[in-house]
Amino acid sequence: MTPLDYDYLRKLLKDRSGLMLSAEKQYLVESRLSPLARKAGLASLGELVAKLKSNDERLIVDVVEAMTTNESFLYSQFEVQRGLPIQMLVKYFAQIGDTWQIAPDIRAMAQFRPLNLLADFVGLGRFDVIFCRNVLIYFDQETKTGVLNRIGRQLEPDGYLVLGAAETVVGLTDAFKPVADKRGLYAPNKDKLKPASAVTSFAAVRPFAVAGAR
Ligand SMILES: C[S@@+](CC[C@H](N)C(=O)[O-])C[C@H]1O[C@@H](n2cnc3c(N)ncnc32)[C@H](O)[C@@H]1O
Repeated sequence: MTPLDYDYLRKLLKDRSGLMLSAEKQYLVESRLSPLARKAGLASLGELVAKLKSNDERLIVDVVEAMTTNESFLYSQFEVQRGLPIQMLVKYFAQIGDTWQIAPDIRAMAQFRPLNLLADFVGLGRFDVIFCRNVLIYFDQETKTGVLNRIGRQLEPDGYLVLGAAETVVGLTDAFKPVADKRGLYAPNKDKLKPASAVTSFAAVRPFAVAGAR
């Protein structure tokens, strides 16, 4: 892949998903996208980039999906033993072979929908708790701030936001304040939530599948 091809892919991924790739991540892009190029019958990553430039939407979505780290799995025995009391495991989960899955009656209460975090959240409704774990780490500061402010407007005033252990709102927005002694837990800063009209508009972005938080 030429440096120009790599720059094109970096910009595409930033615009479509917020994913920031540094100059030295070319090897990662090559290892993730080579199988995709082969599957699409393309001889090289150069050809893949040429096809992306022709605005092949399906291929663009496939490239974004291949590059965003899909990490959710429903759960192994090891994972369910990390802090989940056995009574809750038995009550709320079903064993499927070597793994555990949330019980069907609980799963039936969930609605699964694709959402691009770069897009507007209007129409999603308001939530008592929002889990947004281990994705802000891939974004630059400005994108993190935008996502957090939009999340803030979807949360009930007495609701909570749960971020990943390596993530924080500190230095990004005053829409939330950390809950004392609860790592990763944030409460809305009621006086500081900005009205929707104060927010910059967004470029049209195509939604893509979001893996469930865990
Ligand atoms: C490292 S995984 C974390 C998954 C899960 N929340 C967890 O903690 O196990 C990052 C997830 O963010 C998703 N993602 C990346 N960019 C996104 C965007 N712009 N909008 C929505 N989801 C995105 C990826 O598809 C991937 O599922």
